[in-house]
Parts: sequence; C-alpha cells; structure tokens
Amino acid sequence: MAKVKVKNKKALRLAKEKLRGVVSLSKTKHGIIAKKWPRKKSKKALYEIQKEIIKSKLSKNQGVKDAVLEELVETKKHTQPDVTATNHKLIVGNCMSMAEIPDGSVHLMITSPPYFNAPFDYKGLFKSYEQYLGVLKSFAEETYRVLQDGRIAVLNIDDMLIDGEKYPIAADAVKIFQQAGFRYRDKIVWKKPDGYLRISRRSGVILQNPYPMYFYPDNLLESIVIFQKGRFDYRSISKDVREKSKVDTKEIQKNRWYMTLWEMNNVMPGSSLEKDIAAFPEELPYRAIKLFSYKNETVLDPFAGSGTTMKKARELGRNSIGFEIKKSLVSTIKTKLGFGDAQKTFFANQNDKLEIIYREADKYGYIS
Ligand SMILES: C[S@@+](CC[C@H](N)C(=O)[O-])C[C@H]1O[C@@H](n2cnc3c(N)ncnc32)[C@H](O)[C@@H]1O
Repeated sequence: MAKVKVKNKKALRLAKEKLRGVVSLSKTKHGIIAKKWPRKKSKKALYEIQKEIIKSKLSKNQGVKDAVLEELVETKKHTQPDVTATNHKLIVGNCMSMAEIPDGSVHLMITSPPYFNAPFDYKGLFKSYEQYLGVLKSFAEETYRVLQDGRIAVLNIDDMLIDGEKYPIAADAVKIFQQAGFRYRDKIVWKKPDGYLRISRRSGVILQNPYPMYFYPDNLLESIVIFQKGRFDYRSISKDVREKSKVDTKEIQKNRWYMTLWEMNNVMPGSSLEKDIAAFPEELPYRAIKLFSYKNETVLDPFAGSGTTMKKARELGRNSIGFEIKKSLVSTIKTKLGFGDAQKTFFANQNDKLEIIYREADKYGYIS
C-alpha cells in the first residue's frame, strides 16, 4: 500500500501525481496520509467511505478539501469499475439455425464444434463424414450472417483419427468457412502439456516393437483457426471503449500470446463441471475475448457445451449468446456462469442476467 504525506496543497498535488489512482486520506500528527485503496473492497464502497473521511477530517481546511474532492471526481471518472451489467442468452437447441440472432449483431464467435465421431466423445454420432461437413457448412453460414462486418470467428478444431484413418477436418473447415465468405486470417497451434492424459497412448507401440512401421505418434496438438468477415474499421470504436478494453502487454509477453504456438493446459479429465464434455480450457476463450472484442460487446458460442466461453465473456464484461443442443447441460452451464443458486459472489456485477430459451421440438430443437 502506497503512503504519501500531504501537508499542504502543493504536497497534495504531488501526491495525486504519484498515486495516480484513487486515494483515501487520514489526518495524523505528520499531516494527511493518502493511501491507495486496498484491492479487495469494491471501489464504489471505498469511494463512499473516502467521501466520509474527507467530510469529517478535513472540514476545517476548506482549501485542501476542495482540492481533494476535485481529485476524487477526476479519479472516479477514470477508476470507477465498469458497472455496466452484461446479458447472457442460452438457446437450448440446434445451432444449424440461429434464427433468434439478428444479422450483423454479434462481435465475436468462439467455439469448438464436436469432432467428427471422436472415439471418446462422439462415437458414431454422425452417419457419414459428408453429413458432418454439412453441419460445419450450416454453422459457418449462420456465423457469417450474425457477425458484424470486420469481426472475427475463432474455431478450435482438429483432424480426427478413427480406425487408423485421419479425417482432415481442419483443412475442410477452412474451405467451408472461406466458401461461407470468411477470410482465413491465422492459425494458432495449441500445444497441450507433454503428459496430456486424455489421448490414447499410441506411442507405446514402437517402444514395444522397435522396428520400422510401428510408429504411431501421440497427438498433443489442436488447431485454433481464425477467420474474419471483411475488414475491421478501427475508427468505429470510441476512445473510451478502446481504453476500457486495453490488452495487458505484460501478459502478452509473459504468456507468449504473440506466437502461433500457444501452450495451454487442457481441462483435466474428471473435472466435475466438464465431465463427459470435451471442454476447452478457460484460457482459450479468455485470450480470444481479450484479443478480438471490446467491453460490452457480444460473444457467441454456437456449441456451448459446459459454457466456458459464456463464463469468460461474463467475467470480462462482455455479453454472450450460447447454443447447446443437449438440454441436460443447462444446469451445468448455469453453474459455470455463476447463475446457479447461492454462488453469485465471485462475479463483479450482480445485475448481470441470464435468459434461457428452450426451442420448440422442431427440427432445430434440443435433445434431452
Ligand atoms: C466440443 S463440445 C464444446 C465444449 C465447450 N467448448 C466447453 O468448453 O464446454 C461441443 C458441444 O456442442 C454440442 N452440440 C453438438 N451439436 C450441436 C448442434 N447442432 N447445436 C448445438 N449444440 C451442439 C454438444 O452437445 C457439445 O456439448
């Protein structure tokens, strides 16, 4: 906690410059002590306390009082937490139609679609690879329709190995997104830790049979492909919103976001909220939301699963829309987003809202 002695107006001015943030003041025999607010209390609550302190302790010194109150108005403008509530909408149904979302109303799409008949998670779900590609096509076209011009779609996807044959899902998805109108902008490789537990351990084969033709590598990688709808108009964002959404360059450097290789932990098998869901780690939507959306914009996840994208959107002061075909996941999503019973405390804004829409049981309805 920073402490600065404030003896007169000049010293106070210096203190303001030094502290830059919000200060609280107390009078001691050495003068007035200005402290940076401790982090844990809400800034709004502390602001009220601070006003009281100033009123009671500085009432005799009108000059200093005026100067401090002036400073408070200034600092409040800059440091007051962003109290705008966010809205979250879960549509329980099939995202092949996103009819509830108007054209051009979404600012970022992040998702991980089911992988074609993945042995662990979706064995036999699709009748054929063509059927699977048809799902990707409808999803790409709907995403293009609902995204605003210039905005980004982030797809976590990868090729799938089934019975010794690799299906080129990532390459096919890129083609499908391009055909839907997107520009293919970037590809990040997500590397999981070396000891990643969920994959089948194929590499053991050559260790037991150290001869040619016994090589079957373990896969520690997934792709994160990034698409854009047209070009972004940087001038369309107000200065205020730009500043509120600033990305921390230290975090970018420290965690090496600047490369096309992102080393991120996977969700551990057995994690309670993600049980039986091929969830991605929170770090993935966290990075994408910070890098590709501004505060109070709307983030979409058409294959919501346990609701990881929606959760991070809420935490980062963005609105969210999710589609999930499995009705049985609704309570998981509510809990993960912090809208379950008795767990509202760790999200900053208690005025945030979650709306759940259950589709009619037509062709785009939910399954139980
Ligand atoms: C790979 S998981 C997504 C996991 C999510 N990223 C998370 O972190 O929890 C894919 C999800 O899409 C859902 N899904 C599959 N087909 C769908 C469809 N046509 N419409 C909406 N949801 C669908 C599945 O039920 C599954 O929960």
